[in-house]
Amino acid sequence: MIKKLHHFNIFPFLIHWVHCFLRDRPQTVRVGTVTSSSTITNTGSPQGCVLSPFLFIPYTNDCVSPSSITTYFKYSDDTAILALLRPKQSFCHYQDSISHTMVHEQSPAGFHVAGPPGPLVAPLGGTLLLPCFVETPLDVQGLEVEWKRTNPDALVHLFQGGESRPESQYPAYKNRADFFTPEIPRGNFSILLNNVTNEDAGIYRCKVYTDQGTNETAVDINVEYLVVMTRGGNVLSASVGGEVILNCSVDSHVPPEEFEEVTWKKTDKDLLVLLFQDGQVIQDATHEMYKDRVELFSAEIPKGNFSFKLKDVRTEDKGEYMCEVHTKYLSANSTVVLQQLVQPLHRVPLALWDGITDEPQHLSADGIIEPIDASP
Ligand SMILES: *[C@@H]1O[C@H](CO)[C@@H](O)[C@H](O)[C@H]1NC(C)=O
Ligand SMILES: *[C@@H]1O[C@H](CO)[C@@H](O)[C@H](O)[C@H]1NC(C)=O
Ligand SMILES: *[C@@H]1O[C@H](CO)[C@@H](O)[C@H](O)[C@H]1NC(C)=O
Ligand SMILES: *[C@@H]1O[C@H](CO)[C@@H](O)[C@H](O)[C@H]1NC(C)=O
Ligand SMILES: *[C@@H]1O[C@H](CO)[C@@H](O)[C@H](O)[C@H]1NC(C)=O
Ligand SMILES: *[C@@H]1O[C@H](CO)[C@@H](O)[C@H](O)[C@H]1NC(C)=O
Repeated sequence: MIKKLHHFNIFPFLIHWVHCFLRDRPQTVRVGTVTSSSTITNTGSPQGCVLSPFLFIPYTNDCVSPSSITTYFKYSDDTAILALLRPKQSFCHYQDSISHTMVHEQSPAGFHVAGPPGPLVAPLGGTLLLPCFVETPLDVQGLEVEWKRTNPDALVHLFQGGESRPESQYPAYKNRADFFTPEIPRGNFSILLNNVTNEDAGIYRCKVYTDQGTNETAVDINVEYLVVMTRGGNVLSASVGGEVILNCSVDSHVPPEEFEEVTWKKTDKDLLVLLFQDGQVIQDATHEMYKDRVELFSAEIPKGNFSFKLKDVRTEDKGEYMCEVHTKYLSANSTVVLQQLVQPLHRVPLALWDGITDEPQHLSADGIIEPIDASP
């Protein structure tokens, strides 16, 4: 039908309008108070519509008798073949005529439109391929491929009458979504979506209409987001000389291979504590003050855990630390404050008199009382 309308040089936009009117019509049957569930029809033309008689004419105009001995009478829901059978004349012509009609009305084998195996994650600001394809290429004439975003409905792109129809695209997808036009005759109806925005998330449908029938696939798109968290509270205390873990973890849609750079900085002095770049820690980037005292947990990195261990804690480590995670298009940060650096009591030099030796004694780090080596 659509192919025929193109053949009559009807404006493509109008053809798309007619197509939308004709397809996906829900039908139900009601008997008394009972209503059946609905089913979708994509064939024929609805009864009682102004457009229907007009559509009927091009729809059936090539259904003509192949032989002079038969005449066709076309009705909206059936066709009568009338023949005058003369004595002695073979029935073959009549049979051929019926066979011809049967071929005309037979609906050929269907096809299967395939999409991605699961939901896709689109990089915010980046580019995403929305796959849609058929195993066996379809005839491009009479082919219509419609990419739609559902809820809210928007036409992402349309291929019709042998070419793509950017004029029918929803404005938000103009110049952002494109077919791979040379791939279409090969049965590849994928589109490439550029400059992905948060609004692009949702369910997309790729519907393929041909003379052989209709089929579709759905593509679920999630848009990447990046959330960096410092779990377990962001104020920490530690003991001088001890060690502490500063937590930072990525809690989002981003796959680990997309972490391009992660930095840990001491913000008040703007010191670079750790630099993780292209999959590895850049040791030389660590500030002198933190050399050999910091480490990431390599086994945790693929889980998005960029926590680090600070060893041999010093008083001057006190302050705010920021963990910043960068992917190609996104970045996010989180902070942890290291405070209350506790001086362990037993390390405080303590002078006291034990009253027995009458000599000053010193309480050492190990807690053993030793005489202070003082001159009498
Ligand atoms: C598409 O085709 C497949 C296989 O022929 C079929 O299982 C599926 O129901 C069809 N989907 C639609 C929406 O027609
Ligand atoms: C469709 O074409 C695009 C661009 O050439 C390609 O990246 C994609 O893999 C193709 N898809 C299929 C199913 O062939
Ligand atoms: C879309 O992305 C391209 C690079 O991929 C960039 O040059 C262009 O400015 C972007 N357009 C918009 C509207 O953001
Ligand atoms: C780090 O995060 C883990 C997991 O949420 C938590 O159990 C732990 O207490 C946190 N550690 C610190 C030092 O905040
Ligand atoms: C990150 O890994 C470290 C070391 O295994 C662990 O102590 C910490 O709790 C982890 N953090 C999170 C948020 O899972
Ligand atoms: C840290 O993230 C906040 C938003 O969460 C942003 O406003 C701020 O500019 C970021 N800081 C840096 C240094 O990237």
